[in-house]
Amino acid sequence: MVHAGATPVLVDVDPDTGLIDPAAARAAITPRTKAIIPVHLYGVMADMRALKALADEHGLALIEDAAHCVEAERDGVRPGQLGDAVCYSFYATKNLTCGEGGALGTNRPDIADKALLLRQHGMSKEAAKRYHGHYQHWDMIALGWKYNLNDILASLMVRQLRRLDDLWARRSAVYAMYAEALAGVPGLRLPGLRGKSAHHLFTIQVPADRRDGLLARLGEREIGVAVNYPGHPHPELVPRASRLPAGGLPQRPGLRRGHPEPAVPHPAAPPRRWPRWPRPCGSSWPASAAGVGKRERAGPLSRPFFASAGCGEKARRRRPWTRRPGRSAWRPC
Ligand SMILES: Cc1ncc(COP(=O)(O)O)c(C=O)c1O
Repeated sequence: MVHAGATPVLVDVDPDTGLIDPAAARAAITPRTKAIIPVHLYGVMADMRALKALADEHGLALIEDAAHCVEAERDGVRPGQLGDAVCYSFYATKNLTCGEGGALGTNRPDIADKALLLRQHGMSKEAAKRYHGHYQHWDMIALGWKYNLNDILASLMVRQLRRLDDLWARRSAVYAMYAEALAGVPGLRLPGLRGKSAHHLFTIQVPADRRDGLLARLGEREIGVAVNYPGHPHPELVPRASRLPAGGLPQRPGLRRGHPEPAVPHPAAPPRRWPRWPRPCGSSWPASAAGVGKRERAGPLSRPFFASAGCGEKARRRRPWTRRPGRSAWRPC
């Protein structure tokens, strides 16, 4: 947004889900507003029907951030169906990944044509299309970038797309397992779901004064933990979002009840040695990525954290593609 010369205006969220609040978005619209950009957070879709009505009413573009949200559906709508454009991330931590890259989806031919031009330095014909049958002229007709997903990474996506539903079903089972196991844990709350979640991150909310103790205990059990996204410097602009706690537990499709045991560690359980994960070298390791950090001063349920399994030193040794402290090089598989 900022690179494009636009000024982002923060809009507060529904405190139950962390998703953009359409009423707050309405209140933020001014004559200078050009677009609404909802983020489908953790795998749950924003209220696209309400946002689409709002965008149409004010003649605004609607651009969806679906980095967390490929498989979801809400009110009969899936990511990209109502927006002018939808942005996906294929980064290594995402549900659908080829290691790096992303995609823009759109139903608008004008946006599609412009994106195809701009992603390839503004060339009217990319190299492969200049030699179909006979040579065809081409030229630089716009100032673009080099933003195409290369063919090698794109080829990895073919299999990932086929696995998408299966991996979703397994993450969904992990969600159900956690939800059952964590029900009734005092002070712990799960963000609300709406419709079908992509289950990108399993996030939990804990009281601020217990966060760091819990982080330490999870770390002792080799469940790697980290706080992602330091709090917004101006929580007064988005008070509800600033109070929103968020932390992720591991939700890999391979996670099974009792494997390792306990699959859902209770904070009061004694430290234990975790068995090796039977991950073949080079296999993907999705759904264990990010969480949102917020300011500790925001309230009793703030100071969120993020936890993902196997980021400790032992786990790093098991997974040679991860970086070891003090080593500058990435070790090959
Ligand atoms: C919600 C959200 N939007 C956008 C991005 C950026 O994705 P990328 O790294 O592919 O640019 C991320 C990355 O983690 C994300 O979590």
